[in-house]
Amino acid sequence: MTQATKIYVAGHRGMVGSAIVRTLKAQGYYDILTRTHAELDLTNQSAVEEFFRIEKPDQVYLAAAKVGGIYANNTYPAEFIYQNLMIEANVIHQAFKSGVKKLLFLGSSCIYPRNVAQPMSEEALLTGVLESTNEPYAIAKIAGIKLCESYNRQYGDSHGIDYRSVMPTNLYGPGDNYHPENSHVIPALIRRFHEAKIKQDMEVMIWGTGTPKREFLYVDDMAQASVFVMNLDRTIYEANTSPMLSHINVGYGDDVSILELAHLVKDVVGFEGNITLDSTKPDGTPRKLMDITRLQQMGWQANIDLKHGLRNTYADYLKTLVN
Ligand SMILES: NC(=O)c1ccc[n+]([C@@H]2O[C@H](COP(=O)([O-])OP(=O)(O)OC[C@H]3O[C@@H](n4cnc5c(N)ncnc54)[C@H](OP(=O)(O)O)[C@@H]3O)[C@@H](O)[C@H]2O)c1
Repeated sequence: MTQATKIYVAGHRGMVGSAIVRTLKAQGYYDILTRTHAELDLTNQSAVEEFFRIEKPDQVYLAAAKVGGIYANNTYPAEFIYQNLMIEANVIHQAFKSGVKKLLFLGSSCIYPRNVAQPMSEEALLTGVLESTNEPYAIAKIAGIKLCESYNRQYGDSHGIDYRSVMPTNLYGPGDNYHPENSHVIPALIRRFHEAKIKQDMEVMIWGTGTPKREFLYVDDMAQASVFVMNLDRTIYEANTSPMLSHINVGYGDDVSILELAHLVKDVVGFEGNITLDSTKPDGTPRKLMDITRLQQMGWQANIDLKHGLRNTYADYLKTLVN
């Protein structure tokens, strides 16, 4: 593989896809192929077939997906399972047909059972019942892992296929969604503390007791990990995975309580009021942390700590207000 490798990044306008493009460019890759959703609907089998037949990329990063929070997953379960299954099946199969040897599929930590032991190890896959609110999405993500594994098992030796999967923890960073009702915890807190600062409010109220612990990874670290796993020597990858348990967790390796996170965001934003807790509101799972032993053994570790990442994310949020 050289810097001239032709690389298709599916979902390049999303938070993760755009970070993968940034990382690839920073590493000197220049032949990066992209299509917007409007130019190429990845649920359209014949359009995806034609795209791969004409473009013939060498590598594919599959970071396109229908993504959303609990509300969207619960309200539109058919769209979540159908669109994600179609995107994965079309991209992985047409990549195979057009001769793509290397592909990286991005999944999510929601593939693990609801009551999984913490930290969540790769071995926990398919050992229990999934969280019901995003089960259709999780099933589609599990199907993506199994597509990669099945193509490797059937065509790995005969066609030199090497398709891998990474499962990110909660991500944050530039390009995040700051929507008031439909955003993840970090962009939601950034927005709320910023608005409270502007209005000179005395307090910001946080739902729950503040004690649940969550792990957060800066999206550029996720992109670095993706490029690292894609290009990892096959013998090292195979020594750390097995043909039917091949996915790799990507996380920061440590977690913070929601209250600690709120204090960090308050400091980064410069809000001078108080944080109050509404402990009548539900807390959710007490802890969600990835076991990242596999990835560490293969030689990768996150670089960007939460405080540094939050500063960059707040700067990005401020830019969205200007634009
Ligand atoms: N963000 C996180 O915290 C997080 C955590 C764990 C895993 N992940 C995984 O990382 C991947 C990327 O997530 P993200 O946060 O970057 O999501 P995102 O910002 O919503 O980006 C997804 C991209 O996919 C595109 N897309 C969706 N449907 C498409 C279709 N039918 N045809 C073509 N393009 C389509 C979207 O384009 P449009 O916007 O134009 O539809 C968007 O550019 C997903 O697989 C997700 O599960 C994310």
